[in-house]
Amino acid sequence: MRVGILTGGGDCPGLNAVIRAVVRKGINKHHWEIIGIREGWKGLLGETKIQLLGINDVSGILHRGGTILKTSRTNPLRDGGTAEQLAKNMKKLNIECLVAVGGEDTLGVAQKLAEQGIKLVGVPKTIDNDLSGTDQTFGFDTAVNIAMEAIDRLHTTAESHNRVLVCEVMGRHTGWIALYAGLAGGGDVILIPERPVNIEKICDLIRRRHGRGKDFSIVVVSEGAQISFDEGISSNGTLIVQDTTLDQFGHIHLGGIATLLAPEIERRTEFETRAVILGHIQRGGEPTAYDRVLATRYGSAAVDLIAEGRFGQMVALRGNEIVGVELTSAVYCLKKVDDRMIEMAEEYVG
Ligand code: F6P
Repeated sequence: MRVGILTGGGDCPGLNAVIRAVVRKGINKHHWEIIGIREGWKGLLGETKIQLLGINDVSGILHRGGTILKTSRTNPLRDGGTAEQLAKNMKKLNIECLVAVGGEDTLGVAQKLAEQGIKLVGVPKTIDNDLSGTDQTFGFDTAVNIAMEAIDRLHTTAESHNRVLVCEVMGRHTGWIALYAGLAGGGDVILIPERPVNIEKICDLIRRRHGRGKDFSIVVVSEGAQISFDEGISSNGTLIVQDTTLDQFGHIHLGGIATLLAPEIERRTEFETRAVILGHIQRGGEPTAYDRVLATRYGSAAVDLIAEGRFGQMVALRGNEIVGVELTSAVYCLKKVDDRMIEMAEEYVG
């Protein structure tokens, strides 16, 4: 049997570990031929881009970030693209079924294709950890560790100069990275989309902290946090975007909230304040041991799902078990940070 594998959406530490796991188990256990589809869904459209993946092709990639298959944010079902075209291309390439490795966008497409009868299974990837259906996506642990290390380093300057440092992390419309990195790094204020807040409340927290003898503060802010800069404490604020053009999946390009927040904090509190935006540093470099193992377990389980004919499913972490869940359960809504976690974290900020 010929099995295709593609990686879609933003790159993410652990993608290569999944590819390696699928290739090694697919070949060694099932004697399948594994075909890498390049640049996400784009590689299955028009002039298809594929490469045969042998054991040697995936040797030495476990620890490497990014994806040897490359990736794109191509939505194949946009502008008249159809499941039939993709199915036809798969047939031309003799690819019987697919492993789609991606986040809400890639797996959203996968779910629609599965409904049209295309045989595929999903693997949940994203540093944002915002996919429902699984307790954790691979890539998240690495991003959190990178952000935590950055926060540790920012403490040095904040403390030496008596400054407030505002550190912006990714995460789109959920605050998983900010909350976990903020907790692990000892952030004094953590701002996440799940809890819209007024600027005065943020400044009060900082003033109170400085009032009890602390000369510096670290503010961790999620790119999707909603901060109201109005005087009315109750208003919710709006998203800060880098540009308003939508990508092929209808997403706006978030980012830049730290550069707005830092001068406001400085103006209102009169504490010297600087902004740092971590950006794509959070997605780059080597995956942590945890992500390498999780990605390998996911790849291995994806092979099992195919062998058992459980198409239309996604591998997922539930507790410490890897299970198969319906793709629909992964894409029907975003997994937000839960209230209990937020309440717990609130005890340790300020
Ligand atoms: O989904 C992962 C992510 O890194 C988000 O946290 C971020 O908003 C987005 O991708 C950035 O996308 P791009 O790399 O296309 O700028």
